[in-house]
Parts: sequence; C-alpha cells; structure tokens
Amino acid sequence: MDHSESSLLDAVLASIDETPDPRLRQILTTVTRHLHAAVRELRPTNREWEQAVEFLTAVGQKSDATRQEFVLLSDVLGVSMLVETINGADTGTESTVLGPFHMVDSPVRELGESIDLVGKGEACVVTGSVRDVDGTPLAGATIDVWQCDENGFYDVQQPDSQPAGNGRGLFHADDKGRFWFRTVVPSHYPIPTDGPVGDLLTATRRHPYRPAHVHVIAEAPGHTPLTTHMFVADSPYIDGDAVFAVRGSLVTEFAEVTEPAYAERYGVSAPFRHAHFDIRLTRAAA
Ligand code: BEZ
Ligand code: FE
Repeated sequence: MDHSESSLLDAVLASIDETPDPRLRQILTTVTRHLHAAVRELRPTNREWEQAVEFLTAVGQKSDATRQEFVLLSDVLGVSMLVETINGADTGTESTVLGPFHMVDSPVRELGESIDLVGKGEACVVTGSVRDVDGTPLAGATIDVWQCDENGFYDVQQPDSQPAGNGRGLFHADDKGRFWFRTVVPSHYPIPTDGPVGDLLTATRRHPYRPAHVHVIAEAPGHTPLTTHMFVADSPYIDGDAVFAVRGSLVTEFAEVTEPAYAERYGVSAPFRHAHFDIRLTRAAA
C-alpha cells in the first residue's frame, strides 16, 4: 500500500496497537510519534539519516563494561537530569546524576578517616548529618562518597598513579546521624571526550567541564536512597555544568579555616577547607 507521510505514521501506530503490555505500548506510541514528527520537520537526506545511524552505532561501539557512552549522551542532552527531576522527591535533599565513575565499591572507612590516599591536594574536612525530613537523626545511615583528585581524575582513570579506592569511602553515621571525613578539595574536570559524545560537544562548540563536586549516595533503612553531589561553591563552571546537574541547594561552601585548634580536632593542619552537608532523606513508601 502507498503511504503519505502521515498515513505512514498511522500504519506504524496501528502495528503496535495490540502490544499487550500497556506501558510498552504507550512508550512505543509516544516515541514513534515524536520521532516521525522530528523527521518530517527536519526532512533529512538519505546521507544525513545514514550519518545519524553511524553516530548512534559509534555511541554503542564506544560503550563497554566501564564506559557508558549512551549515558554520557543522555547526560549532555540534559535527559539524565530531566529523569532525575521527574523522579526526585518533593521533600528532602535534592538528587542529581550518578555519573559513570561509581563503578567500584567504596572501601568501608571509619568516621574521621581520609579518603585521600595521596596527600598532594588542598586538605579538606567534610562534616554533615543524615536525618529524616522531620529532623530525626538517622543513626548508622551509610554515606558512600567518591570524588576526583585535585587534578580532576578519578582513581579508575589513573590506575598507574592513583591507588585503588583513592577518593572513595563508605562511612556509617554515628548515633546522632553525623558523619565526618578528611579528603582534598576536588577539581573541576572534563567528562570523557574521546568518543562520539566528545565529537558532538566539539561540533556544537560546547565545553566538556563539570564543576568540582563530591558524589554522595546516602541510605538508611525505611528511607529512599539518595544519589546526589556536594558542589564546591567557588568552582569554575558552577554556572555551566556540561551535564546540567547543578542544583542551587547542593552548592556548598568549602570555607578556608585557619584556626589551629579547629584543625587539630580533625587531624589536619591549618589552613584547610571545611564543607558541611546536611542530608534529609524521605521515608520510603510502605
Ligand atoms: C561525574 O560526575 O562523575 C559525571 C557525570 C556525568 C557525566 C560524566 C561524569
Ligand atoms: Fe564526578
């Protein structure tokens, strides 16, 4: 049968109309409708459509067990953050993207321990608390943190020069829901650009940088796990994150502290930087 541009869409929609799973039917219908609308609007040449397929093929070929180029594509197009926003709780600490560097388990560490195993960056103490949205301290909550070093690299990116587990730690909050640990101030850094997503950024004259941040996953029984970041307030790119993940409520002062007594309390020497991050978790649906 011959098809006009719009009857072609109708034929495809009719072909999926008997899909038994209603959610799958809805997803296929919506995606097909929007895809056809985009193609009708853009009117690609055959060569342009081939290039689109080649681009997506390259995204797939770049992905493996440790590199997820499709997630990166979703990140730079703002889709990861859109999904976070749709699914985030209305109360409690705001969430943000997981990112691709949580690929190894964080070593379990004692409160006060350093996650920095190298000692070259600017000393930093992070303190904070984990509470229910009603303010009740969540004793024993877990706080999983990971960050890049002062040069902008995660341990997994530099296995020859950084010890495994550098910049990572899994802490248990004390009986008042408090946590504290030592680290170095992380740097801003570029997302991986050696793949098709990097080519896309170049073609669109976009920079690849993320502002400095410490990743956090906080969990407590009976509560919804939270994936978020502490963003370093005075970091470059704080207003221009390549993956659109900054939320104002997560921007945290990493204040310079000069008092030696304060430094001694945390086992660092002055001057150092101190960041405080209070986390509120929402109760999981029963
Ligand atoms: C990260 O913060 O680790 C990250 C997030 C999205 C894309 C690339 C890196
Ligand atoms: Fe990161």
